[in-house]
Amino acid sequence: MKSDVIIIGSGAAGLMCAMQAGQRGRSVVLLDHARKLAEKIRISGGGHCNFTNLNTRPENFISSNPDFCRSALARYTPQDFIALLDKHHIGYHEKTLGQLFCDEESDVIIAMLREECEAAGVKRFMNCEIGDINYTPRPPVEEGAMTRPKLQAFHVGTSRGEFNSESLVIATGGLSIPNSGATPFGYHVAEQFAIPITKLKPGLVPLSVAPADWKPYASLTGVSLDVVVSFGLGTTKSRREQTDMQGAAQRVTKHTNEVGEERASTQRSKSGAQQVIGGLHKQSFRGNMLITHRGLSGPAILQISSYWQHGKPLHINLLPDCDMAALLSEQKTSKKLLSNYLAQWFPKSFSEVWCAQLPGVENRPLNQYNDRQRKEIAAQLHGWQVTPSGTLGYTKAEVTCGGIDTRALSSKTLECIDVPGLYFIGEVVDVTGQLGGYNLQWAWASGFAAGQAV
Ligand code: FDA
Repeated sequence: MKSDVIIIGSGAAGLMCAMQAGQRGRSVVLLDHARKLAEKIRISGGGHCNFTNLNTRPENFISSNPDFCRSALARYTPQDFIALLDKHHIGYHEKTLGQLFCDEESDVIIAMLREECEAAGVKRFMNCEIGDINYTPRPPVEEGAMTRPKLQAFHVGTSRGEFNSESLVIATGGLSIPNSGATPFGYHVAEQFAIPITKLKPGLVPLSVAPADWKPYASLTGVSLDVVVSFGLGTTKSRREQTDMQGAAQRVTKHTNEVGEERASTQRSKSGAQQVIGGLHKQSFRGNMLITHRGLSGPAILQISSYWQHGKPLHINLLPDCDMAALLSEQKTSKKLLSNYLAQWFPKSFSEVWCAQLPGVENRPLNQYNDRQRKEIAAQLHGWQVTPSGTLGYTKAEVTCGGIDTRALSSKTLECIDVPGLYFIGEVVDVTGQLGGYNLQWAWASGFAAGQAV
């Protein structure tokens, strides 16, 4: 079958790209090996699809080229997607921090995208195994030629026949949740065309701690605490820093790429904060942290997992709204046991286990500590150091960090600079959103950008 555009992968990005290209009058074929359409949209947001975030900014995305996402995000905004929902009378509501969820189940979003594609004449082939991809480059224009030069052509062999087109869009997503249909297909296509890929790792994923280190805490499974978790700096906490951490509304941030070069900017972020102190970089998130039998989970941990580097510690401020050095000092004549005192903020079980593990300081009545020990306890409470041994991997990760190296792509169209007609969109690209609807917003925005260009 011949068409203007072939899109491989009918998830969020592929469907958006298909409907946009179809609406422009392009003939579009959408291929997917899965039986069910857009399984990741269906399971997203706990089944209610956190489809965007009103506060979407480039700073909410991780990439070795942090500016790459700017163009696409600016041209397809959360409001554009909301307008589409309004057109289809789909109800939604805001949870915390600008996160928009469907009132009904995620299926309404899938149905909306399917209808838009059908109305735009997109031909969709599910249960379609993809074989070889062959490419005929555009022939050079001969001097004095009178006829219009031919375009490049892609030939895609599949279990449902041969497909040919002048544009090929790869929208096959990342590696997370393999039983949802995720495969490394997109990375293999990149390799075929000698397009570089940045390092891949699971993101938005629970973290594990070596069983021997975690033994005392494993009994606390299910305990959830409101914390600030940080990665990238020591425990040093000036009063000024603590104030910055607590003021969720206004933050001074700077961004680094993978080689540690600094890209300075000042921004507001409600979900997280990046700071540069003395040339060192720190990423922090405030939110719930859940203790599990294998380590740590919960929104704050999922967020930091995308930044965490193997072998390095996390610093967890267990009482971000308190100045524990001052509070403990006020208690210096109290006969209360430390763990009982802390139980006003923590579940008693956590307080007891945590105090029993305090390095160099026993769990004693508060009047038995000297100034140095009180400061040490406060420092531990504001900077509990946990070194994860790993992540729970792609089976539990929401996203894949890393992907198609953005230096190989046009930020405006997502087309490969060295392979005219070949596009990569969505999660397969080295652009990863934080938790909170950003990943789907990137899928919509990158799908839209390519859909306008193919
Ligand atoms: P996506 O993975 O959606 O689609 C890829 C498509 O390619 C699939 O249909 C797949 O079958 C197909 N494919 C793969 N390999 C193929 C091959 N070899 N041949 C043919 N087809 C192939 N994000 C967010 O913003 N809000 C949220 O609430 C959530 N919640 C969430 C929950 C869970 C459990 C997960 C795992 C992920 C999320 N996410 C999320 C992340 C979000 O779902 C994800 O980033 C986007 O769906 C990515 O969209 P893509 O279109 O790039 O890939």
